[in-house]
Amino acid sequence: MPGLGDATRGRLLFGGDYSPEQWPPDVWEEDVRLMREAGVNLATVGVFAWAALEPEPGRFDFGWLDTVLGLLHDGGIGVALATPTASPPPWLGHRHPETLPQGPDGVRRHYGSRNHYCASAPPYRRAALAVTEALAARYAHHPALRLWHIGNEYGTTCHCGHCAERFRGWLRARYGTLDALNAAWGTAVWSQRYSTWDEVTAPLTVQYIGNPTQDLDYQRFGSDLLLECYTAERDAVRAHNPAVPVTTNFMDLYRPVDGWRWAEEEDFVSLDTYPDPGDPGAALRGAMSKDVMRSLGGGPWLLMEQSPGAASWRPVSTPKRPGLNRLWSLQALARGADGVLHFQWRASRQGPERAHGALLPHAGPDSRVFREACALGRTLAELSEVDGLLGAPVAADVAVLLDWESWRAAELPHQPHAGFGYVDRLTEYYEPLWRANITCDFARPAADLSRYKLVLAPNLYQVTPAVAAGLRSYVAGGGTLVLGPFSGVADQDERVHIGGWPGLLMDVVGVRVEEHWPQASPGTIWQEWAEPRGAAVVESAQGGPLDGRPMVFRHEYGAGIAWYVGTVPAPDALAGLLARACAEAGVRPVLPDLPPGVEAVRRGGVVFLLDHDSGACEIRPAA
Ligand code: GLA
Ligand code: ZN
Repeated sequence: MPGLGDATRGRLLFGGDYSPEQWPPDVWEEDVRLMREAGVNLATVGVFAWAALEPEPGRFDFGWLDTVLGLLHDGGIGVALATPTASPPPWLGHRHPETLPQGPDGVRRHYGSRNHYCASAPPYRRAALAVTEALAARYAHHPALRLWHIGNEYGTTCHCGHCAERFRGWLRARYGTLDALNAAWGTAVWSQRYSTWDEVTAPLTVQYIGNPTQDLDYQRFGSDLLLECYTAERDAVRAHNPAVPVTTNFMDLYRPVDGWRWAEEEDFVSLDTYPDPGDPGAALRGAMSKDVMRSLGGGPWLLMEQSPGAASWRPVSTPKRPGLNRLWSLQALARGADGVLHFQWRASRQGPERAHGALLPHAGPDSRVFREACALGRTLAELSEVDGLLGAPVAADVAVLLDWESWRAAELPHQPHAGFGYVDRLTEYYEPLWRANITCDFARPAADLSRYKLVLAPNLYQVTPAVAAGLRSYVAGGGTLVLGPFSGVADQDERVHIGGWPGLLMDVVGVRVEEHWPQASPGTIWQEWAEPRGAAVVESAQGGPLDGRPMVFRHEYGAGIAWYVGTVPAPDALAGLLARACAEAGVRPVLPDLPPGVEAVRRGGVVFLLDHDSGACEIRPAA
């Protein structure tokens, strides 16, 4: 199987989305000239070019793309060629309205934007494969082609009849019989029992609250359905040239697609990330999604999109201050990326994204932003020469468990606290380690965790017997586990564990939770009524309705230690607790005692020091 190395060919990638179909041909030559000036070596072409490639059904126009790829190739610039299937032309929706996605209320979304497709509709699937097939047949051996970029930011949902049909097929494969489905969905509640398969639908707008397990299954199905679209296109391009690596671009932590499942189907993982330059937590959030990408793919990944300036979809699209794009680019390299691409190369003059940042802004090459792009190009060229960087792994002693199953289930409607967010919990646990310059991987709960000294499970809502067995043997074998609140609550069918939480892990943490106690008051959003069952009490509630009750526990289990944190602690308290867990587990920072705001990451033979704060500190190597 090819990998990212087949795309980089020994150089860190630099560039961005390039939309020549938005510009007259005389601009293309200028584009290539300026790309060369900036040091761009990869352009992502064709992401939204379906209408330009297939102006009428079945009539392809590749002339312009031949010219563009030829110009890029002559300029020494490689191409990430996209299948354009994220945005069908109006002719598809006009001829086949069934290809337009339908909301749970039965209302169809019209064309006139993008992402307006139903992944189940046969005419969409046929047309998407046809354009993919035609592109692959023509360009799979083009000398400029470095990688295939399938679709764009998969995540569209639909609730139409075609989707219901596919959903029933998916459910039959999962449950076998209707009785098993009725049992799993708990349809004894509210007289929801299904008597024939035909009665089963996608979740639709209903009178009151819908069935949570139906909702959960529809989320699982939705991810699998889109994955099927991706793999169909991947297989089509691969068939023409198996040596070209294939990816699709993930968004930051994004619930609709299960990153673990998807990453298995990609030759390498790529990320679109748009932290808000106005958000004081942006560097933290950026570090976290970059670590997630490295972990999903288990190796080097590609930063597919970031904005060189503003992201125009924000209510206030603040640009990046001077140097910020470079800083965040280096953060990506530090955390395992082998390339830094942007949305987009040349700012769109028209259309919804005309206010979006670009490497070549509306002001033209005589601009701060273009000069910074050129400087970044030079930096990446220099870093390509550094031994032990390109392709190198990032070592981590800590794993944070990331579980789409728990994420979907913990955020279903009518859980105890509507504001209890899965990614918030992950971020709270990740943050103190990030501040302490301790590098974390993310891991699947069922993964082999034995190489980690410390495992954090901030919100392991769903615990299956296999996951419980894995965590039990991890701790028994000498590992340290920190299990956060609202964990071990339900099984994979959203059937609540009887007899106390965290269910199958009660004996491992030595704690039994009787009640979840969410709160709307300031202080904490969440506490639990819990009793130690072998664990030592480390912290108790101070004030509030559970004043004096134990909240944080530490349990020696086998050769290891299991912590249970039955609350959402104040940030300082959580930082203190995790510092103790790290120290006991022998987890060390990349470098100790750095000034606040300085991020240190070791990748291969290189230590990156990133100053997110003032830029006014000096760090000297130890004598
Ligand atoms: C996404 C898309 C791009 C572009 C950017 C704008 O990441 O993939 O095509 O729309 O958002 O921020
Ligand atoms: Zn549909």
